[in-house]
Amino acid sequence: MTHTHTARQPVHHDRPGHGPAPEDDSALPEMLDLDAALGAPVLAAALDAAQRALTTVPRTVVEPRTIVDLGAGTGTGSLALAARFPDARIHSLDAAPQMLHRLASAAAEAGVADRVSTHLVDLDGDWPAAVPLGVDLAWAALSLHHVTDPERLLRQVFDVLRPGGVLVVTEFADVTTYEPADLGTGREGLGDRVVSALAAHGYPITAEWTSALTAAGFSPVDRTATSLIASADTTDGARYLELNLTRNRDFLRDDLNDSDLTALDAAIATLKEGTSGIRCTSGRAFWAAVRPGTTDTEARR
Ligand SMILES: C[S@@+](CC[C@H](N)C(=O)[O-])C[C@H]1O[C@@H](n2cnc3c(N)ncnc32)[C@H](O)[C@@H]1O
Repeated sequence: MTHTHTARQPVHHDRPGHGPAPEDDSALPEMLDLDAALGAPVLAAALDAAQRALTTVPRTVVEPRTIVDLGAGTGTGSLALAARFPDARIHSLDAAPQMLHRLASAAAEAGVADRVSTHLVDLDGDWPAAVPLGVDLAWAALSLHHVTDPERLLRQVFDVLRPGGVLVVTEFADVTTYEPADLGTGREGLGDRVVSALAAHGYPITAEWTSALTAAGFSPVDRTATSLIASADTTDGARYLELNLTRNRDFLRDDLNDSDLTALDAAIATLKEGTSGIRCTSGRAFWAAVRPGTTDTEARR
């Protein structure tokens, strides 16, 4: 069984990860699940990077036994980590109870509930108190940009990792493109105008973590650029694009003119009908960062 441990009152953070968040963000869990389905190749590549990085420091254990998933959401990372590392216990941390409920159900369904523990904690607080020391692998997917003081979080992660332990961070990278440019509506450049209007508001939230990871003491730090592709050719892709464009349309209602808003409505309608040919490429990057050093004790584990 998964258990939810409450270390402190969670703080609600509404800084969005998947573009601007509407006031009622009930679609976010579904978006995260769709992100997981469409982002499976990105996730697999990040897991490969974790596995490679765990072999960086000679004479330390390579198979992780203790893993923390920081800002675990609906459990995309936690479940993939449990599948990739069958000897590991996963500690899934999040400040949103509804995310952890969903994660616990998914863990039970996947038959890994005995290895997955949920912790209702604030990553801006004393979350290390909730996890064991000597963590082998820490995972922060699309969550680092949510915290108030990411540098502090990185130092905390460094301290909970064992020497030779690895942190993998995944974040949005700056390229988002829609094809065709008119989103199938005849309004030339509509997709680019959506991207530019979002960029003017600072979305997607992207950050370069290489220097912050290095400053926290990690070495080596490897960055890989990749992308998630959502295409209306598939049911998941069409639904993802429908939710994505609906969120963007609501958020940009004061930035786009009436003709663009009407065209966006038409594009959303074709996604609902299953007749759309839209494709969106969302830039992603992941970092694999190693806490350097080894001890004889760790080498013998
Ligand atoms: C965009 S989601 C990513 C979820 C998951 N890692 C994934 O890849 O699907 C960000 C998650 O971070 C959580 N979060 C944001 N700020 C937090 C904080 N201060 N403490 C704990 N969790 C937080 C949110 O509740 C949300 O589940």
